[in-house]
Amino acid sequence: MKALVLSGGKGTRLRPLTHTMAKQLVPVGNRPILSYVMGHLQSAGIKEVGVVIAPETGDEVKGYLQDGSNWNLSITYVLQEKPKGLAHAVKTAAEFLGESPFVMYLGDNLLGTGIAEAVQRFEKGGMDGLVFLKKVPDPRAFGVAVLDDKGQLVRLVEKPKEPPSDLALVGVYLFSAKIHEAIAKIKPSWRGELEITDAIQTMMDMGCKVEGEVLQGWWLDTGKKDDILQANAVVLDEYAARNIEGAVDEGSTIEGRVDLGAGASVIRSVIRGPVMIGSNARIVDSFIGPFTSIGDDTIIQDSVIQHSVILEGAQVRGVKRVEDSLIGRNTRVVRGENHSDALRLMIGDHCQVEV
Ligand code: G1P
Repeated sequence: MKALVLSGGKGTRLRPLTHTMAKQLVPVGNRPILSYVMGHLQSAGIKEVGVVIAPETGDEVKGYLQDGSNWNLSITYVLQEKPKGLAHAVKTAAEFLGESPFVMYLGDNLLGTGIAEAVQRFEKGGMDGLVFLKKVPDPRAFGVAVLDDKGQLVRLVEKPKEPPSDLALVGVYLFSAKIHEAIAKIKPSWRGELEITDAIQTMMDMGCKVEGEVLQGWWLDTGKKDDILQANAVVLDEYAARNIEGAVDEGSTIEGRVDLGAGASVIRSVIRGPVMIGSNARIVDSFIGPFTSIGDDTIIQDSVIQHSVILEGAQVRGVKRVEDSLIGRNTRVVRGENHSDALRLMIGDHCQVEV
């Protein structure tokens, strides 16, 4: 069993962060989303991984994953020149995949459960396809599956205006080499992409054995700001442990599950977990509330921050309440000493500021 991780795309819904960073590298719980994906592949016993990259962000993704040895994986990079769809990505990776069955994992998706059990079910069941599904309140932004009363998969449709069920296709799939035959038969959709959903439907029409696996645990598609905040909250809820490597002065209080990185310092502040604070961060005269991740080399001073993700090198000073916010790398959010109601802003393209 090989794996194909899709790590291309433009990340338009996460601009401005994705002007300068691959969306799969945006951190939740202070770790890039891709690191969770690699961990899941490793736990499922997979060794060979193809990573599909785009010209715009490929170097950054390569810089992070390198040869995969951090996860005991061997990575082959596959360049997809244009984002022409998930099935097109599989086509581009045909040489790497050969006749091997494979897991396809969208690099901006997070599953709570991992994939080891599904891989076993797929292998034992002699299947050509196994798709992960999850009940969602509004499935219109996803591929949608219809199951019959025995739970068998009968139909798939991509982003329907009127969804035939509430079961969305999660961005993780298991395929046999039959998928290549199906992809050869499909045409681009209305959005000009070769859709994997259409290829799976074609496999079903060819009489192949394709089943669904309804996820009981959480699934997060981290395409937008609120998704990242939610993913961060879920990950902190699940994984944050109390681990204080940095220095805490006597005037500070650390409550609950707080991970404070090496070289970080907390001075006259209160940190209420679950919270992760990266290495060499400085938290001074501030309150950091639950479900907040603060990256390496940040400075937080005279501020209150909760339910937010602050990326590395950012500074927040004199801001009495930052909530539900995603602040990019090396960004400064500062309230001047002689502040009036005037705002002085230097904000990049595609930002969103609520005051
Ligand atoms: C893709 C798939 C869709 C699936 C979704 C999961 O959508 O086409 O079927 O539900 O990923 O994230 P896209 O991200 O290309 O809009």
